[in-house]
Amino acid sequence: MTWNGDEYQARFDRIACKGGDVHGEAALVRSFAPRTVLDAGCGTGRVAIELARHGVAVTGVDIDESMLATARRLAPEIPWCRHDLADLDLGLSFDVVVMAGNVPLFTPPGTEPDLVAGVAGHVRPDGHLIAGFSLDRGYTLDDYDAHCRAAGLVLEARYATWSRAPYTGGEYAVSVHCRH
Ligand SMILES: C[S@@+](CC[C@H](N)C(=O)[O-])C[C@H]1O[C@@H](n2cnc3c(N)ncnc32)[C@H](O)[C@@H]1O
Repeated sequence: MTWNGDEYQARFDRIACKGGDVHGEAALVRSFAPRTVLDAGCGTGRVAIELARHGVAVTGVDIDESMLATARRLAPEIPWCRHDLADLDLGLSFDVVVMAGNVPLFTPPGTEPDLVAGVAGHVRPDGHLIAGFSLDRGYTLDDYDAHCRAAGLVLEARYATWSRAPYTGGEYAVSVHCRH
């Protein structure tokens, strides 16, 4: 799938213009008080840029050049890296790795285990992987938990929303896994 970064970002800009909150993901990430964050599948940098505004050292990685072009235009000072998450080795580890916006649903079918392994490999000991995605498109929480487990991460918490509403079995979940 290819994206139009400016169109994607414009949707969020319109929501923000009308007073909507487009930074729920960043708020949850910030509650972990990270010094370093990898925004995995960063798109136009919506989450990373908000975190950087609060003093977090962020790196954004995405495969899509159009998304990254918008991110670079909006925040040229942030390191943006074009790479497939399923084959990522930055040689760095982060306090938090975040996947916001259904990232595992957009990786090519069959690459989900490698995607999770690729991002999990960048979580430092006692660090967290936080991911939110819809559950009505074939990739289940059982799949995701198994892929996290295989990558050395343990489930710590699960929510229905980025504002920590309790997860009671709905069609969207935010999962927090930890590397112990
Ligand atoms: C819906 S967008 C979410 C963008 C951003 N995280 C946000 O919440 O605004 C999903 C992003 O995941 C990226 N993505 C999906 N699979 C990927 C992979 N295997 N490697 C790198 N990026 C990937 C896509 O290119 C796309 O930019």
